[in-house]
Amino acid sequence: MQIRTVGVLGCGLMGAGIAQVCAQSGYKTIVREVEDSFLKKGLGRIDKFLTDGVAKGKVAQEVRDKTMANLSGTTRLDELASCDIVVEAIIENVEEKKKSYAALDAVVGADTIFCSNTSSLCITELAATTKRPDRFAGLHFFNPVPIMKLVEVIRGLATADQTYQAVFGFAQSLGKEPITAPDRPGFIVNRLLVPYLLDAIREYESGLGTLEDIDQGMKLGTGYPMGPFTLLDYVGLDTTYYIANIMFEEYREPRFAPPPLLKRMVLAGRLGRKSGRGFYDYSNA
Ligand code: CAA
Repeated sequence: MQIRTVGVLGCGLMGAGIAQVCAQSGYKTIVREVEDSFLKKGLGRIDKFLTDGVAKGKVAQEVRDKTMANLSGTTRLDELASCDIVVEAIIENVEEKKKSYAALDAVVGADTIFCSNTSSLCITELAATTKRPDRFAGLHFFNPVPIMKLVEVIRGLATADQTYQAVFGFAQSLGKEPITAPDRPGFIVNRLLVPYLLDAIREYESGLGTLEDIDQGMKLGTGYPMGPFTLLDYVGLDTTYYIANIMFEEYREPRFAPPPLLKRMVLAGRLGRKSGRGFYDYSNA
């Protein structure tokens, strides 16, 4: 199938990044947020990334201008009516997603494909809440979306071969390198990454080393771009806690259980970069 127009639901950190790469790859892209203020913030984030990219010599002025011209924002779901594919990147809540899919089902064409950027919810379950489980797949991007090359493509139990192929091809057309991941909590990357991050917290609590030494050790000793605590602050401690709980619920294995310190930091509002403090202090950043 021919994809020309892309809809993105949600213009938060992930939604904005997804809308940017779609518009940058030449698709007419319509991003929808629930409130004008959220939309302005998200579109502003895209503009800033591209403008900074031009200043750094990483993005041509013409690419910036074309990307912004391909992009439009709305608070109305019915403006996504002409979309060939819709990528949903809203809050990780099945009920909220279900409501959005129902409203979308009513306005888009019968062939439109739905994708969810969920990092932990079950694709088969989300697909079953729509009228098009055969035209539904997972399409999981990584933060920061414009820079990270990976996308996980996830087939639900009902995803049609044609849908899977179209979504995989779409991810490639965005300049990404897709892999196929199973419909299991954490897919491939978070299934391996989250236990590593949880283990780092547990070992820090048990006195393995300072935050700085553990981070430096993993960064310089293994070539990871960030040590575990810098990455935890970057991803968000609330997000990690949320994913860990879903994985623990499914697998019931201690390695997925969120450590007490993670829970307490979330309860204290120390969510990482986004709240100004996580394992490290960003209040002056
Ligand atoms: N426009 C275009 N390019 C830009 C840019 C801009 N505005 N800003 C930066 N870049 C480019 C840089 O030029 C650079 O490119 P080169 O490598 O070609 O030089 C690259 O992006 C990296 O940028 P920086 O040099 O400014 O930053 P950095 O080297 O410190 O890298 C980082 C930052 C990419 C975030 C890196 O630290 C990293 O990869 N960290 C790990 C991130 C990670 O693991 N993400 C996944 C989290 S898990 C997840 O997302 C899934 C989930 O479900 C929770």
